[in-house]
Amino acid sequence: MLKKLKKILVAGVQPTGKIHIGNYFGAMKQFVDLQDKYESYIFIADYHAITTVQNRAELMQGIIDVALDYLAIGLDPKKIILFKQSDISQVTELAWIFNCLTTMPYLMRAHAFKDAEVKNKEINVGLFDYPILMASDILIQDADIVSVGQDQKQHVEYARDTAQKFNKIYGKTFKIPEPFILPHVETVPGTDGRKMSKSYGNVIPLFATDEEIKKAVMKIPTDSKGVDEPKNPDESIIFAIHKLLLNDKTLKTLEDKYKKGGMGYKTAKEMLIKDLTAFIKPLREKRKMLAKDINTILEILKNGGKRASMNAEKKIKEVREKVGVKIY
Ligand code: ADP
Ligand code: TRP
Repeated sequence: MLKKLKKILVAGVQPTGKIHIGNYFGAMKQFVDLQDKYESYIFIADYHAITTVQNRAELMQGIIDVALDYLAIGLDPKKIILFKQSDISQVTELAWIFNCLTTMPYLMRAHAFKDAEVKNKEINVGLFDYPILMASDILIQDADIVSVGQDQKQHVEYARDTAQKFNKIYGKTFKIPEPFILPHVETVPGTDGRKMSKSYGNVIPLFATDEEIKKAVMKIPTDSKGVDEPKNPDESIIFAIHKLLLNDKTLKTLEDKYKKGGMGYKTAKEMLIKDLTAFIKPLREKRKMLAKDINTILEILKNGGKRASMNAEKKIKEVREKVGVKIY
């Protein structure tokens, strides 16, 4: 049962492709770790996704996939409120109101916008406005904390600024949320050493088959040090990924093996494949089982949507009143 005294956590993931171990260790794992401690609103950001995914079948499948992912990693719908963003129509209403308080130069400073601009991508208004929709997701639920990966920190700043701006103009209405970022996990590197990301094709999928795991690990580049030579674990992509899976003691043993020499990169890769397979297999099997009963998944989302939307309705009423559109 949820206790009202718990602090509120909000987190979301876009349904834009298979999740990878970077998403898991960088962001999703903490939703699970925190689900007992916080009143958690965890959602599938489908309206954010249509800034890039404009294909009905792909989006529908993506939404169900993320729901399965969430449940397979251990989120418990009895403890948290799991829903899809588009079921909370108050979020888009609030985004409009926030838009009217937001200036264009301010949104032009967002990393995501600047990246897209540098890459000469066509930028739709939705993508430009992405941080404001995200601010609405967060502020409409009165979040105390927002669980995100390092690269989303700026978006939480946008939510904080927007809350402050609204409060200043219309009187105290929104809580100022804090970002919650796992302290020891920085960016998870991909198999080419850059940030692991769907858009770079360098991922290890979280529900990878044994074959996919092998293939991904084997393509990790290494330097040319021979078997006997000592190696610097901090310069190895294999080690950086392996690190995520080990406890302090086994990590130390592995670190020593690198430093001492005598272990070739081939052996290091084989060990990583073994540990990744042991980690991924139970998750993959749980997901497969859940996927046999999609109706249950849809029910969970529907119920979660109703609960999240009840909260949102209270908040939007207060906002309408403060803005001055509620005259009866
Ligand atoms: P991608 O870059 O693969 O498209 P998203 O931008 O959809 O990933 O990110 C979803 C969540 O996962 C975000 O909270 C983000 O911070 C986190 N995340 C994504 N990639 C990584 C990574 N390589 N290391 C750590 N966290 C990550
Ligand atoms: N922008 C986030 C991402 O790419 C997804 C997201 C949308 C989100 N709304 C949110 C995350 C609100 C936390 C809170 O991962």
